[in-house]
Amino acid sequence: MSGGISIIGTGSYLPERTLTNRELEKIVKTSDEWITTRTGIKSRRIAGAGEETSVMAARAGARAMDMAGVTARELDMIVVGTITPEMIMPSCACLVQKEIGAENAFAFDVSAACSGFLYALEIADRYAKAAPAMKILVIGAETLSARVDWQDRNTCVLFGDGAGACVVTGSKNGDGLLASQLYSDGRLWQLLSLDAAPRRYCPAVDYGTIPDRNTFCDGSAFEMVGKDVFKHAVREMGDAVESLLRREGITPDAIDILIPHQANIRILKSLAERVSLPFEKVYTTIKKYGNTSAASLPVALDEANREGRLQKGDLVLFSVFGGGFTWGVMLWRWQ
Ligand code: ACO
Repeated sequence: MSGGISIIGTGSYLPERTLTNRELEKIVKTSDEWITTRTGIKSRRIAGAGEETSVMAARAGARAMDMAGVTARELDMIVVGTITPEMIMPSCACLVQKEIGAENAFAFDVSAACSGFLYALEIADRYAKAAPAMKILVIGAETLSARVDWQDRNTCVLFGDGAGACVVTGSKNGDGLLASQLYSDGRLWQLLSLDAAPRRYCPAVDYGTIPDRNTFCDGSAFEMVGKDVFKHAVREMGDAVESLLRREGITPDAIDILIPHQANIRILKSLAERVSLPFEKVYTTIKKYGNTSAASLPVALDEANREGRLQKGDLVLFSVFGGGFTWGVMLWRWQ
């Protein structure tokens, strides 16, 4: 095992507006009971005016910097995992840079769907290995509500908006990121896709209103073969976790906590069973926030951290799966 980055601060930002299953019952033919039992989701947050992806990302980033005791001017690099930036150019990361005043940093986005935050962390790790003094802000941020077809009950009940972030720097004692592995399989892209946005789009709803078809600002929305995505998510994340633990000579009982991408509570239960981890060790936020793609892992990480669920010396696993397909796993010794 070789030391790479360690996480020295975490932060998150969730939009004000909560959209409950009961409200969704008024929009599409669904029920609180169906959504709860099939997905574990009770509510999700929906970005309103003034809560564009970069704004949420900057707010999450500022909270992570506060915890880390790092100023914006000290940042060397900003990487944002997102598939819903409000503009393709400039990148969301450059807008974050402007928003927080990180004038000494270079900034760019990573597109890897729900795996975007993990991919961004991996890039940060490679930079910090070469220059351990670097201070890097890594963010996952999404406004999925702007790209959801609010008439498609197969998808609109699943997604939410938000942002999570962490500040990383080179590990001083070899702890921090111990091992990782990323994967992609572009052959399966049609099982989960989202067309490029043809024009600038905005958050789906104004604060306090319920979305309907007219609030969907763009012509293209998520397309998904839910059952297949479910099967691949469990299989690929399970294989990735098992393979990494085997490679590192670690048994599942040594893992203190698994912080996974929050897609569906049934995916997470199947994953835990598959890798022989008691479900109590799986940290979840899906009930409150739904699936926020690249934001889901860093939001969960920040909440677990602030609740005191991560203790120095703990072995922490990250596991993600998303469109592309992309997936990956990381093993940390918490510092
Ligand atoms: N409310 C009520 N009924 C619904 C809804 C809804 N919101 N959505 C679908 N149904 C219906 C279907 O039409 C179907 O009806 P039918 O039998 O009359 O045709 C029935 O419920 C069962 O549908 P299934 O698709 O078989 O339901 P399933 O158990 O597979 O659950 C779900 C669907 C929740 C989408 C599941 O497949 C899933 O979570 N897949 C993973 C998808 C995912 O997480 N994607 C996010 C991005 S990738 C990622 O983050 C991992």
